[in-house]
Amino acid sequence: MKTILLSGNENDLKTAAQIIRSGGTVIFPTETVYGLGADARNMGAVNKIFAAKGRPADNPLIVHISGKDQIYDIADEVPRGAKTLIDRFMPGPITVILKRKPEIPDVVTAGLNTVGIRMPENRTAARLIELAGCPIAAPSANLSGKPSPTRFEHCVDDMNGRVDAIIDGGSCGVGIESTVIDMSGKPVIYRPGKISRTEIEKALGAPVAVAAELKEDEKPKSPGLKYRHYAPKGRVILVEPDPDVILAKLEQYGEKCGIIMFDEVLYELEPKLDPQISMASLGCGDIPEDAAARLFAALRKMDKCGAEIIIAPVLPDTDEWSGVRNRLYRAAH
Ligand code: TXA
Ligand code: MG
Repeated sequence: MKTILLSGNENDLKTAAQIIRSGGTVIFPTETVYGLGADARNMGAVNKIFAAKGRPADNPLIVHISGKDQIYDIADEVPRGAKTLIDRFMPGPITVILKRKPEIPDVVTAGLNTVGIRMPENRTAARLIELAGCPIAAPSANLSGKPSPTRFEHCVDDMNGRVDAIIDGGSCGVGIESTVIDMSGKPVIYRPGKISRTEIEKALGAPVAVAAELKEDEKPKSPGLKYRHYAPKGRVILVEPDPDVILAKLEQYGEKCGIIMFDEVLYELEPKLDPQISMASLGCGDIPEDAAARLFAALRKMDKCGAEIIIAPVLPDTDEWSGVRNRLYRAAH
């Protein structure tokens, strides 16, 4: 399959929208990560997404919209709490799970009676959905088992020849996938993201459960949770972000090492390191948003360099770090 590479200009977006309307697949930027989209109403088109990614059929897709009125074509019921979150956080990096309308094909929701809805803030994404004139089903645009793509090059690396088009939207500002919250019943956060539990609780005026903290028998049915997440080829070792601790670890491991670390630590380490060791920065150690924007690119870099041991920082167990921590710690298991 020939993949066409597009820019985000209006003409190219029209081409991309036409591809979506005729049942093809298009990779597009969003503020979180790149998505691999197809017409959510078209079963054949949605099947192409699963094929391109190598994604298991029982993992549902998020439906992307460009206007809030579209929610009522997709969701059967919008409870008051959901309405509050939609008013407060959409467009933005949040996915709200609601009871679905039967018009949404089973392939999209993997047969569940709920559907995840997201309205991206990214202008290219919003315009593409608007021009396509239909809701767009899209998972992250990585090959299954790879980190989500946050740059155009990541999409080309994974998907060239597997999709109809890829739109270059530069780097994704947020860098980790949307916060996923189930509002079809008692609110549960399935996946942490930039929009934090605290912000959501504040908006709802009530405590919200987090799937990872629930006991096994109360665990909700988010198929995504059961899949083993991205694991780099190398082994990730989490250490205190302290130059002496890292130097000691490098001594201990003979294999080819790579380091994912904060700027201030890298700055101190660099003169003392073998130039062979590949390094990737997570930005400043007190800015979780910087780390989020850089993490997936850093993990991809480690794989490219063939690092066998990847030294990465232990992160604070706080609400503002929970999104980055969730991704890095899952990569470490
Ligand atoms: O930021 C994002 O959310 C990106 C961009 C492209 O929008 N998309 C994304 O999609 O990360 P994906 O498919 O990689 O992750 C969606 C997650 C999966 O873990 C899936 O299991 C869960 O959301 N999910 C989707 N629909 C669901 C549903 N109806 N019930 C429970 N979980 C659902
Ligand atoms: Mg994904």
